Amino acid sequence: MARPNMKPIVLFFLKLLLIGLSAPQLIAGDETQKFVYSGFASANLTLDGTASVTPSGLLELTNGTVMSMGHAFHPAPLRLRDSPNGTIQSFSASFVFGIISIYDLSSHGLTMLVAPSKDLSKAMPVQYLGLFNGLNNGNTTNHIFAVELDTWQNAEFGDIDYNHVGVDINGLSSEKSHTAGFFHDQNGTFENLTLGSQEAMQVWVDYDREKTQIDVTMAPLNMTTKPKRPIVSARYNLSAVLKDVAYIGFSSSTGTIKTQHYVLGWSFAMNGPAPVINLSMLPKLPRDHPKGRRSWVLDIVLPVGTAVVLLSLGAIAFLLVRRHFRYAEVRDNWEVEFGPHRFSYKDLYHATGGFEDKNLLGVGGFGRVYKGVLQKSRLKIAVKRVSHDSKQGMKEFIAEIVSIGRLQNRNLVPLLGYCRRKGELLLVYEYMPNGSLDKYLHGKEDNTILSWAQRFQVIKGIASGLLYLHEEWEKVVVHRDIKASNVLLDNEMNGRLGDFGLARLYDHGIDPQTTHVVGTIGYLAPELARSGNATPPTDVFAFGMFVLEVVCGQRPVNHQNTQDSQVMLVDWVIDNVQKGSFGDAVDARLKGRYDAGEAYFALKIGLLCSHPFANARPSMRQVMQYLDGETEPPELSFEVLTLMQNEGFEPYVISYSVSTTSIGTVSQLSGGR
Ligand SMILES: *[C@@H]1O[C@H](CO)[C@@H](O)[C@H](O)[C@H]1NC(C)=O
Ligand SMILES: *[C@@H]1O[C@H](CO)[C@@H](O)[C@H](O)[C@H]1NC(C)=O
Ligand SMILES: *[C@@H]1O[C@H](CO)[C@@H](O)[C@H](O)[C@H]1NC(C)=O
Ligand SMILES: *[C@@H]1O[C@H](CO)[C@@H](O)[C@H](O)[C@H]1NC(C)=O
Ligand SMILES: *[C@@H]1O[C@H](CO)[C@@H](O)[C@H](O)[C@H]1NC(C)=O
Ligand SMILES: *[C@@H]1O[C@H](CO)[C@@H](O)[C@H](O)[C@H]1NC(C)=O
Ligand SMILES: *[C@@H]1O[C@H](CO)[C@@H](O)[C@H](O)[C@H]1NC(C)=O
Ligand SMILES: *[C@@H]1O[C@H](CO)[C@@H](O)[C@H](O)[C@H]1NC(C)=O
Ligand SMILES: *[C@@H]1O[C@H](CO)[C@@H](O)[C@H](O)[C@H]1NC(C)=O
Repeated sequence: MARPNMKPIVLFFLKLLLIGLSAPQLIAGDETQKFVYSGFASANLTLDGTASVTPSGLLELTNGTVMSMGHAFHPAPLRLRDSPNGTIQSFSASFVFGIISIYDLSSHGLTMLVAPSKDLSKAMPVQYLGLFNGLNNGNTTNHIFAVELDTWQNAEFGDIDYNHVGVDINGLSSEKSHTAGFFHDQNGTFENLTLGSQEAMQVWVDYDREKTQIDVTMAPLNMTTKPKRPIVSARYNLSAVLKDVAYIGFSSSTGTIKTQHYVLGWSFAMNGPAPVINLSMLPKLPRDHPKGRRSWVLDIVLPVGTAVVLLSLGAIAFLLVRRHFRYAEVRDNWEVEFGPHRFSYKDLYHATGGFEDKNLLGVGGFGRVYKGVLQKSRLKIAVKRVSHDSKQGMKEFIAEIVSIGRLQNRNLVPLLGYCRRKGELLLVYEYMPNGSLDKYLHGKEDNTILSWAQRFQVIKGIASGLLYLHEEWEKVVVHRDIKASNVLLDNEMNGRLGDFGLARLYDHGIDPQTTHVVGTIGYLAPELARSGNATPPTDVFAFGMFVLEVVCGQRPVNHQNTQDSQVMLVDWVIDNVQKGSFGDAVDARLKGRYDAGEAYFALKIGLLCSHPFANARPSMRQVMQYLDGETEPPELSFEVLTLMQNEGFEPYVISYSVSTTSIGTVSQLSGGR
């Protein structure tokens, strides 16, 4: 039962002991010229800003508040000069500090300083370390000497790194600095110390009056002795800097990183080594506190998480933007009415496998044609990419082709819709499984040869389709590019005219000075080659050529014969007709298996339509009537045939040769669809 009585007494003595140990131990004589704090529990420091002394006796200069600063001064001024006009005496100071940061990084640092006043309220935090401000930094009227322990690299002050010790005179551009650390006494090697490592470290600052030399030394706490070699050694005559009355203390500041700057112990002496700080008496640096852990999570994981989220959002935004440009389209208000016919570029892009070359069906006069399958409907499509920069006439064109397509003439390739991009128009057609007539007429393989019945059916079909464009639709549409490669075969081997109206697009936005002929060499009517004016009769002319091509299985212009002479199919047919051997003109690959009456009839229509004089050609309605047997076609007179040979084609060939180079958009013979 003695213990309860003992307790107050023990506590009393303990308290006495603690006070005794913590209070500045004033050593020998002038109490202002020598002191040692082993912890600050009962010290009488002058504090401001965030500075405070913790219950455990730590001097907390900054408490983790960002962009803050704190100061602590030994209360009494130093008398640095021993005579009024004398020089600054030698002095030594040492202190133990620790920087606690939740990151590997800390900001910004602390200094031990000697200043003419304890009032540093005009100083700034962050990079100014609570010591100077933007106006007075570097000014000799400051009369401040400081040793900085800086964990931030400020280029404006010429900082060497983000972990350095520097000697500062009146400003933050250090007279001399060095990466924090120490030199081993044994072998002289330098060892780094990380200021913000959460470990307490000791620093010694010694000024030698005779040499006017400032030495800064540091060491980890577990080193028993002060290293012999300082890390910073600066020659600077402090007599010219410091005033007679000077205070010694600490300043510290934080930036944007939550950092706590602590001083654990401190000693000072004039004209002699700084009293040894009894390290075993020092208060412990705070570490491993749950609050810190929580804020570690909040301040590291959260920002990192946020950064990751932001980066992800950025990446998504990037992808969206890229996607936006990849799938970018041009859309005008007037297109609302064509809504159902408007395809999204994205759908077309996916349908054609990104317009892959393996899906390329052909390259025509107007652009490339790709095969594709619409993902939702599984509908097979052919997409024609027409490069077109002009917006002019686009509305009319779209309106025209959409409404032509809407009527679903069985001899026109169904146009499903379109899409517009910058400088480009995409036309979406139904895919014709049997491809273009071209390959059946001029293909190398025999198994692709069309029978006579099929050929006659195709001729009738194309005539019907063209009649529709010329006369049966609400407006006259000139096709302008009738040729075998523009005739496609559906699954019943019906001929269907593709690319209707497309040439019209090229009437707009072109230089009126140049005659811009659209069409394909060999199918161009003489007057079209001369004037560039496309009319229904010019279509009829091309149709005539097309009919001859289908019957004879030869191209309108043959290069196959002798060297450089072009043989006009028309001439050759007329020759045969005049010789009464029209059967020789019919495609030899049919091997005689054809209806002679129909064949002669077809050749006749072909020649009638190919008349060099536009007004001598039949209209498509008349052609249909001939084909349907409603009316008899006129006989081909010898005179007409001679005229055709003499007047029609020779000048045409010449004019064609002359104008070849200026015919920009003329499809070549090997044109796509
Ligand atoms: C830090 O010190 C300032 C000024 O004394 C005070 O306002 C603030 O609440 C303190 N912050 C912390 C986290 O202790
Ligand atoms: C602390 O110092 C101030 C002035 O520096 C003085 O007025 C005050 O009495 C001192 N307090 C103690 C307890 O020494
Ligand atoms: C100290 O210097 C000032 C001028 O610099 C002079 O006026 C004064 O007399 C000097 N005092 C002594 C004790 O030398
Ligand atoms: C230094 O400070 C003084 C007083 O504060 C001021 O008059 C002077 O202009 C400053 N010098 C420079 C270079 O800023
Ligand atoms: C130098 O000496 C110290 C202490 O004896 C030792 O830890 C360090 O590894 C040595 N360095 C070299 C490079 O020998
Ligand atoms: C010391 O620090 C510097 C820069 O901070 C670095 O380049 C060097 O590798 C470090 N040395 C050691 C031994 O950690
Ligand atoms: C001092 O402590 C550091 C870790 O803080 C350790 O790496 C080093 O070896 C220790 N040195 C001595 C002499 O105990
Ligand atoms: C230091 O400067 C003072 C004047 O400020 C001068 O009297 C003294 O001789 C200087 N000391 C050295 C070592 O140059
Ligand atoms: C340091 O303080 C401890 C008690 O905390 C004491 O035992 C030891 O002798 C002291 N060391 C010196 C060098 O004063």
